[in-house]
Amino acid sequence: MNTSHSQNDNDSGVLAAAAAALEFVSDGMCVGLGSGRASSAFIKSLGGRCRDGLRVHGVATSAASATLATSVGIPLIGIEDGLVIELTVDGADEVAPNLDLVKGWGGALVRERIVATASTRQVILVGADKLVKTIGERGRIPVEVIPMAQWPVTRGLKSLGLVSTLRMASTGASPYVTDNGNVIIDFALREPLVDGAAARSLERAVLDIVGVVDTGLFLGTADRVLVGRADGSVATLLRIAS
Ligand code: A5P
Repeated sequence: MNTSHSQNDNDSGVLAAAAAALEFVSDGMCVGLGSGRASSAFIKSLGGRCRDGLRVHGVATSAASATLATSVGIPLIGIEDGLVIELTVDGADEVAPNLDLVKGWGGALVRERIVATASTRQVILVGADKLVKTIGERGRIPVEVIPMAQWPVTRGLKSLGLVSTLRMASTGASPYVTDNGNVIIDFALREPLVDGAAARSLERAVLDIVGVVDTGLFLGTADRVLVGRADGSVATLLRIAS
């Protein structure tokens, strides 16, 4: 996983948000398990409840989350097992006022999308540093790309006026490779997106480039965002139905 995140594993706000998310889990539920630090905090808390007797099944969004979930005692199933995923709890890299998200700084965006799309509800856990006025404000939006399409996608992004960078592994010696065997190109906006409609239009344009598997734009997927603060309090943001 990419490690360039501002949250620290013991961030008290994120830990508080992760604990608050347990309120939405009930016995017998199938729960989508996100990826990244906030999700890991949730997985560890949920594992504690499982050891106390809660019966749930988890659907992991990355190899790292699957390993963690198994280690803390959450039984895993796959989407192909056909259970309804009533809730997915995940992190995000940006949250706009309308709850549009940027995800994927940790590299798990495609599986996060698959699980989010299969879920009835998505609850997002963040620290206040992830709240933005407009999408793209924190600097990069990831795109997962089939490796042989790296150059055409780079050209396609350039033609949309976007500045892009191939994500490198933490050693810096080779490209970062996702759980799906693909690469990630992060792009930055030259101008802030004016609104949600502009974000949707950008998403469509990027998805139209051949070789793009998915983008980190998660627009309209989140139902609720739990914002953890350093003092341990948690604020709730709810999506207004459009
Ligand atoms: C993983 O691909 C991401 O979408 C993460 O969910 C997101 O980057 C948030 O991660 P942190 O909780 O580690 O900041």
